[in-house]
Amino acid sequence: MEKMELLGHGRMADVYVWEDDKILKLNQAQYPRIVAEQEFAASKAAQAAGLPVPAVYEIIELDGRFGIIFERISGRSLLDELQSNPWKLFSIARQLAELHAFIHSREITGAIQTQKARIENGIQAAQAITEDEKNSIRRNMAGLPEGNKLCHGDFHPGNILLSPKGPMIIDWLTGSRGDPLSDVCRTVMIFETVTLPSDMPLVTRIIQQVSRSLLTSIYLQHYLKIRGVKKEEITRWRLPLLAARLREVESYPREKKLILNQIHALLHSIP
Ligand SMILES: Nc1ncnc2c1ncn2[C@@H]1O[C@H](COP(=O)(O)OP(=O)(O)O)[C@@H](O)[C@H]1O
Ligand SMILES: [Mg+2]
Repeated sequence: MEKMELLGHGRMADVYVWEDDKILKLNQAQYPRIVAEQEFAASKAAQAAGLPVPAVYEIIELDGRFGIIFERISGRSLLDELQSNPWKLFSIARQLAELHAFIHSREITGAIQTQKARIENGIQAAQAITEDEKNSIRRNMAGLPEGNKLCHGDFHPGNILLSPKGPMIIDWLTGSRGDPLSDVCRTVMIFETVTLPSDMPLVTRIIQQVSRSLLTSIYLQHYLKIRGVKKEEITRWRLPLLAARLREVESYPREKKLILNQIHALLHSIP
């Protein structure tokens, strides 16, 4: 592993160059085979649905860690593109909405996990809320649609690579069968709750905050227009999604506090 060229790494995996035109996304040792299997199944489903995604080849085991071999995509992420060309914000926000609506227009073949089961796993794993609170949140989610469309589960500009053939959507670990509007709600929630580094100069921080809220509202408005849906159909997913997000922000105290405040406010507003 020491000899392999590292391309990137995230919360759960390291990504290495594999042969010339492939990459290996290798999960950390604590994640069992099933985690790789879920990402493999969702990536296959996305490929079968005719979406612009890297080809997915096989699951391998290396030094007790499980990983997936994918086609290597050349090109930077949409996030890098936005950061180096901030004036493209409007067109990037609209492109994001169009790509997301395109995912949601596809039919799914093959067995992949359901969205509600994924959210329920997250709620179960949340440490910062009580059992009573979890049960209220579950009752709230029970009234929401199951949905039957392919959803990405972590759709943001960092998971889109700009290849010479056009944008490619990566990172399908959280892919599921469910309600597209929940998928959109999750994207909006990520944009709105990811906190900026506390050592960032004030002026930079203000600029970042303004551009992020612009990105969020243009993305959302454009998506609503394309799909002909109402904002309320999206925001009603917010409570269960915030609760399921908690386990991901355990080691980010400012984000955790922000999310908890929002959960408590929403719980109070439930009749
Ligand atoms: N198919 C690919 N081709 C080229 N680079 C990739 C590919 N998949 C992932 N990467 C690189 O690895 C990084 C992390 O991959 P990603 O699947 O998003 O994992 P994570 O779950 O860690 O976010 C990406 O931002 C990208 O730089
Ligand atoms: Mg990613």
